[in-house]
Amino acid sequence: MQRLFTGIQASGALHVGNYFGALKPFVELARENDSMLMVADYHALTSLRDPAAVRTNIINVTKDYLAVGIDPAQAIIFKQSDVPEHTELSWIFQCLVTVPFLQQAHAFKDKVAKGLEANAGLFAYPMLMAADILLYDTDVVPVGADQRQHLEYAREAAAKFNNAYGQTFKEPKEKILEMIATVPGTDGKKMSKSYGNTIPLFGTKDEIAKAVMSIVTDSGSDKPENVFAIHQLFKTESELAALYEEHKGKYKNLKEALIEDIDSLVAPMREIRNAIAESDVEQVLKEGGARARSRASEKMKDVRAKVGVTI
Ligand code: ADP
Ligand code: TRP
Repeated sequence: MQRLFTGIQASGALHVGNYFGALKPFVELARENDSMLMVADYHALTSLRDPAAVRTNIINVTKDYLAVGIDPAQAIIFKQSDVPEHTELSWIFQCLVTVPFLQQAHAFKDKVAKGLEANAGLFAYPMLMAADILLYDTDVVPVGADQRQHLEYAREAAAKFNNAYGQTFKEPKEKILEMIATVPGTDGKKMSKSYGNTIPLFGTKDEIAKAVMSIVTDSGSDKPENVFAIHQLFKTESELAALYEEHKGKYKNLKEALIEDIDSLVAPMREIRNAIAESDVEQVLKEGGARARSRASEKMKDVRAKVGVTI
């Protein structure tokens, strides 16, 4: 049995990329392992300053976790802000790494390049993520390919601490399913909340249809590559070969087939999700938060003693 840990920022509605990149692998592994699933609400503050939106996102992401099939009796579902040990440990890591090291982070560089405010939280983001993971002696972190570098940062934080204070943290591995490492969006680039190119995971069928119909196709070939790339997540190679042969050059038909395939995956989960009340979410987060906190506070006792603040 291994300790599994992953998190998603409470920064907007989840999309098909989040599902295939992070949630689906997590659900599959969660059953046989000791699993923790976090709502990264403090990470969301690096880009979100609207309290009502933060609260709504926390509730929605938790509902999404439950709707995709994560059982809160088995996996611990909690939110980051309920376990203050995360921010505490992140401070200790920030004191161990250098400014040039953090300046190399892709996520930071990309946001700065896009003209987003480079607040200090965004800069320190990888050290909060390292704390999330390392606090729980995590073995495996199922994430999309874009998070690979963040995992390297977490391993580096563990190594720096272990070097300075003695063996304390495990160095975690990422778990990226190669075939679906990056789900493309409607414009062919990585699907991302921040690029406005998403297919919503829990949208209505109309919303899914609208997103699929907006997939950019170039009229040069019989096979619309961007449609096909997303379709690969839903059908086998041979099913797709037959479908794309039958509807050669008929982009509209192929898009309609994709809408049906997405909807048949999403419809049962959407039904489960609609039945989840806000009070259920509050209860799940309360119980999960208490379970996570008892693990984290145990670990932090050791960490505090090692850095010398326990007198
Ligand atoms: P976004 O880029 O939309 O803001 P997040 O950064 O909140 O998404 O990602 C949450 C999780 O979903 C991470 O594990 C991330 O790697 C995964 N993920 C996000 N977008 C994709 C994608 N297009 N393909 C595969 N996995 C993805
Ligand atoms: N940085 C991750 C993302 O943007 C979210 C995240 C925060 C996370 N803490 C984590 C993922 C810990 C895995 C483990 O997607």
